[in-house]
Amino acid sequence: MKKKKILVLTGGGDCPGLNAVIRGIYKAAMTNGGYEVHGCIEAFNGLLKDPVEIVKLTKKMVGGIHVKGGTILKTTNKGNPLEFPILKKDGSYEYKDITKSLIKKIKKLGFEAVINIGGDGSQKISQALYEKGLNIIGVPKTIDNDLSATDLTFGFSTAVQIATEAFDKLVTTAESHNRVMIMEVMGRDAGWIALHTAIAGGSEICLIPEIPFDIDVVAKKINKRYTKGKGFVNIVIAEGAKINDKIVGKHAEGDANIKLGGVGNALRQALEQGGCKADIRVTVLGHTQRGGTPVAFDRILATAFGVKAFELVKDKKYGKMVSYTNNDITETTLVEAIKSYNYVNEDHYLIKTAKALNISFGESP
Ligand code: F6P
Repeated sequence: MKKKKILVLTGGGDCPGLNAVIRGIYKAAMTNGGYEVHGCIEAFNGLLKDPVEIVKLTKKMVGGIHVKGGTILKTTNKGNPLEFPILKKDGSYEYKDITKSLIKKIKKLGFEAVINIGGDGSQKISQALYEKGLNIIGVPKTIDNDLSATDLTFGFSTAVQIATEAFDKLVTTAESHNRVMIMEVMGRDAGWIALHTAIAGGSEICLIPEIPFDIDVVAKKINKRYTKGKGFVNIVIAEGAKINDKIVGKHAEGDANIKLGGVGNALRQALEQGGCKADIRVTVLGHTQRGGTPVAFDRILATAFGVKAFELVKDKKYGKMVSYTNNDITETTLVEAIKSYNYVNEDHYLIKTAKALNISFGESP
C-alpha cells in the first residue's frame, strides 16, 4: 500500500527540543506504520528552492537527536510566505503573499499533511495556510514561553537552566568584588525567563517588560544593599524591559522587527548617570540561552508534542496546535492559539513569591 507522506518543518528562532519533536513525530509514524516523514529545510524556504530542499527522514538521521540542540531541518525567521520578501531592481523589497502557490506545490509533491513547529509567527502562518485548504498541525515552540494556549513550551526550561547557571557564577564574582552585576536575558515581550531566573538564582532586582520600573527606585535598592553592609547586588533584566519607556535595540536592514539587545548596558549607564557609585558590570547571555542540549523536561515535553502531532495527523484533526495544559498533552485550535500572548501578570504566583523574597521589580511606590 502507498505510504502517506507527512512534511515537517521548523520555523522562527531555534529552540532546544526541536530535534526531539522531529524524532517524536518520526518514531510515532514508524510505530504506527503506513507513513513516510519528510523534512523541509529552513522552514518553508526549502519548498521555494529549485530543486526543492526536502529530505526523507530515516532512522539513522533521527537516531539520538533528542539530545541535540538546534534543528536538523535548519530554521529561519525570514521568508514568511504571507509576506514573502521579493528583491526589486532598485534594491528595495516588496512583500507578496505566496501561500496559494505554496499550497499547490505541497499538494503536487503528494504530502498528506504538514506539521509546522514554530512560535507565534509560525502558527499565524499555519492558520492562514489552513484557511486556504492545507492540512496542517502546529507545534508550539519558544524559549520565551509567551504563547497563551499552552501552559509551557519546550526550550523554556532549558533557557532558565542556562540563565540560572550563569547567574550563580555571577553571584560569587559579585560578592568577591563588591560589585553590581547586571545579567541581561532573553524575553522580547514576556519576562518569564528573567522572573524564573531571579527566583532560582536569588537576585535582588528583576526587571521585566511587563512591569515599568523607575531607575531611582532601582538605585535606591542598590544603595541600601551597600549601606546595609551586603556590598553586592545581582540584577536580572529581560531584553524587552524599557529604560525610561524606551525599548533598547536596533533595526536590521530590510527587517521590520527591532533586534533587541543592550538594555543591560543602558541600565548601567542610567545608574551611573544617576550617581550610583558602585562598580557595575554587565553580562549579556544572548543566544547561549537557545543553544546546547535540552534539559530532560524539555526533551520529554518536545517528544510528547511530536507524538501528539502525529496522532492529530493520523486522526485528520487539522487546523490544531498541540499544547500542554493542566499537566496533560492536549490540543487547541490554531485560531485559539494565536489569539493572545502569555505575559507575566502582576497577580501571578511567582510575582508574589518574588516580592515575598524582597526581590524588587523597580516599580515606583
Ligand atoms: O523569540 C525568541 C527569541 O530568542 C527572543 O527572546 C529574542 O528576542 C529573539 O528570539 C532573538 O531572535 P534572533 O535569533 O533573530 O536574534
